Amino acid sequence: METASELARALDGTLFAGKLRHFVEIDSTNLQAMREAAAGAEHGTVYIADAQSAGRGRGAHTWHSAPGDGLYCSLLLRPQPAIAPASAMWISLATGLAVATAVESVTGLRADIRWPNDLLLGEKKFSGILAELSAEGERVRHAVIGIGININHANFPPELQTLATSLRMASGKNFPRVVILAALLRAMQAEIENLFAANNAAQAHAEILQRLRQQSTWIEGKRVHVDAAGGYTGVTAGLNAQGFLQVQTAADLRTVLSGGVRAEN
Ligand code: BTN
Repeated sequence: METASELARALDGTLFAGKLRHFVEIDSTNLQAMREAAAGAEHGTVYIADAQSAGRGRGAHTWHSAPGDGLYCSLLLRPQPAIAPASAMWISLATGLAVATAVESVTGLRADIRWPNDLLLGEKKFSGILAELSAEGERVRHAVIGIGININHANFPPELQTLATSLRMASGKNFPRVVILAALLRAMQAEIENLFAANNAAQAHAEILQRLRQQSTWIEGKRVHVDAAGGYTGVTAGLNAQGFLQVQTAADLRTVLSGGVRAEN
């Protein structure tokens, strides 16, 4: 699959069909999606850039966005029926699973998921997800789900070398970005159908938790440092019913509401 028309065919019948917005270079696909969402852009619009000059990461981080090597995209969702901001955690978790599914289907590589949604090969990260919300009280007006995947990078700047990898570095092969994008959007379509079309949200959430337990080595029994509340160390003890990670410290069982998690030896 190399052309826009092949991509369009792959998206036939999905909520993303006919809603691709491509930019050669942009500050950030998340920012563009937020700007266009405020101006009324449709549910399911996809923003893709070949390069980002100000790619955004979680926390105060930036996202290294080398021209042409990675997939930099953002999906605009207008959840119906309306969801509360706290429920957006499920979209975030489901997106991590969608990236893992798409990557495995195209490359055969099985990703680990570091809660909530960093995707790793071995100890190194190749994909990150940044979900940004616009909410009105207890109702999400729209959500922008930004996804960065390192695909054909042959190397990274020195400060990222111990932390980052790409599908190419892990497999020795190059992959067309458009093939990964098509697989990702199809996997996202399935996740969104499960989450929003399900009559039984509790059942959909339980399935996500179950799949995460299978896909991630970080959910149970991993010694971690949590970069929140002054920083603390403990052993992961599953996810609570809202999808938040629990960590058993020497003193108590804590719930990680925000902050990064990293392995602690
Ligand atoms: C993270 O810190 O792990 C999240 C990284 C998210 C990066 C993607 S790239 C496409 C989209 N646009 C952005 O500015 N950020 C996200």
